[in-house]
Amino acid sequence: MRIMVINGPNLNKLGSRDEKHYGSGTYEDLKNMIIDAFMLSGHTVNVFQSNSEGKIIDMIQEADNSYDGIVINPGAYSHYSYAIMDAIQDCQVKVVEVHISDVLNRDDFRKVLITGAVCDKVISGKGFDGYIEAIEYILGE
Ligand code: DQA
Repeated sequence: MRIMVINGPNLNKLGSRDEKHYGSGTYEDLKNMIIDAFMLSGHTVNVFQSNSEGKIIDMIQEADNSYDGIVINPGAYSHYSYAIMDAIQDCQVKVVEVHISDVLNRDDFRKVLITGAVCDKVISGKGFDGYIEAIEYILGE
């Protein structure tokens, strides 16, 4: 299977963000962890990041055409992007939303998951491991 992992705004700054919520690992660490975990699985896992809403929508549309599933951490867009929500809703493939931090136990505005509401599953507060769980869910493992 082919899985696309899409990371949204500010996730390129992991490693220098609030350690209490995001840990100390960098974006490069996250990317390597995901790629290493599935390297010998026979599945293809591609990991992308963009700070731009339009680019994220382009990636969702591309993944829906040529991948078997999407793992997405839309960052703060999760809490207000109806455009990303619509893009996810139009997808034929499974979409899992991941949040590194425990969004349901932080600021009130983070408890609203506009994009998560239309995903097949939301995983939150499990750190980088949440991405592995999300991919395994899509793979049916
Ligand atoms: C995040 C949670 C969001 O509220 C925040 O804006 C992020 C990261 C997470 O992975 O925990 O940028 O999506």
